[in-house]
Amino acid sequence: MAKTLTPDIDAKRLYASIRELGKIGAYRDERTGLVGVNRLALSSADGEGRRLVVKWFKQAGLEVRVDRIGNVYGRREGLEPGLRPVMAGSHIDSVPTAGAFDGCLGVLGALEVARALNDHKVATRRPFIAAFFTEEEGCRFGVDMLGSAVATGRIRLEDAYVLKDQAGLSVKEELGKIGFLGSNPVRAILPHAYVECHIEQGPILKRTGMDLGVVSGVQAISWFEGVILGRSCHAGTTPMGYRRDAGVAAAKLNLKLRDWTRSGLFGRDFRATMGVLRPHPGMVNVVPGRLACSVDLRNPADSMMRRAEKALFVHSKKVEKEEGVSIRWRRTAGTPAIRFDPSVRELIDEMAEGMGLKRGRILSGAGHDAQEWSRLCKTAMIFVPGEYDGISHNPREFSTPKQCADGVRCLLRTVLALSQEGGR
Ligand code: HGY
Ligand code: MN
Ligand code: MN
Repeated sequence: MAKTLTPDIDAKRLYASIRELGKIGAYRDERTGLVGVNRLALSSADGEGRRLVVKWFKQAGLEVRVDRIGNVYGRREGLEPGLRPVMAGSHIDSVPTAGAFDGCLGVLGALEVARALNDHKVATRRPFIAAFFTEEEGCRFGVDMLGSAVATGRIRLEDAYVLKDQAGLSVKEELGKIGFLGSNPVRAILPHAYVECHIEQGPILKRTGMDLGVVSGVQAISWFEGVILGRSCHAGTTPMGYRRDAGVAAAKLNLKLRDWTRSGLFGRDFRATMGVLRPHPGMVNVVPGRLACSVDLRNPADSMMRRAEKALFVHSKKVEKEEGVSIRWRRTAGTPAIRFDPSVRELIDEMAEGMGLKRGRILSGAGHDAQEWSRLCKTAMIFVPGEYDGISHNPREFSTPKQCADGVRCLLRTVLALSQEGGR
């Protein structure tokens, strides 16, 4: 096959695909009027989105395989099929208040790499795989990067299958319902390298005038589910001193977490969030006797993360005594801080240099599938700036066509360089 020197992407096609996929699970945010995306993992909207991307993978001539945890791999053969593939991808599941770019840029960027190689009739030495992974967000079944974690051995398939959502529906049955309970083994893919293009989801690149971020790694993540048990009672007749108010206990924990983030006790970049707060019975005239909550901790340093976790448990004992409640924690996610491969980071930097892009080194505040694949092969990420201070997990999430094209053009060049490398 004839080979052109530097194949290029079709930026309009990329952006049109992002917009097209963004219509699936779209909703109008009644407060802002903005169109958001709600494509929770393994929901019918996720199933519809998956089928659309699979259709595009097949139209691009990729051989599509679905594994037993619902990860989808589109393979473009190389001149030397026995060599380990270069893989690029991300996720298309979303949080309920998402925009159109989180994860989707990386999946459709990988698709665009395949489309561009086809357009320019480029035969790569190594096979190339475009992929998307199951339940990256973790907000439905409680474990983040689930599909990638199973594919890379951090989580056993059997343990993933039995995870249940708030309605008691399991991963396995929901995969079956949307038709993505695949038959391919989950540990079948061992890439030569993995590269993920993703929106930054924060303000740094834009504020520092960077076109692109070369991601140095991902900070540590800890998630806990908490159950606070007190005693429900009448809001009017019960004197304050008689109460065992689960809501007050949760508020004390939340404020203490915020104090720790402000004090720098666990490092100046320590972040803590109580995203789930579900009082029971949740009635205006009943003191909540039970409360389900979540804690999301992020820290660039594992040692500081351990100290923060310990402090949470110690402080919980204090709140139990003060408020007469019991507090039980269960860890649902825990990933260490990771550093991406220096050689792939240098390659990304070199490609961006060749494109005349201003780029900065940046640590990822969010978790990504790449952190799981970094245990199996050399891995790195390309970040794309976002508008409106890079807000994400919000319908206002937005990156311009140029920002997306810069990131995916750099992805194409990085994948091309990696796919010519020798070795196994
Ligand atoms: O939670 C995260 O960091 C990612 O959005 N899953
Ligand atoms: Mn993401
Ligand atoms: Mn996300």
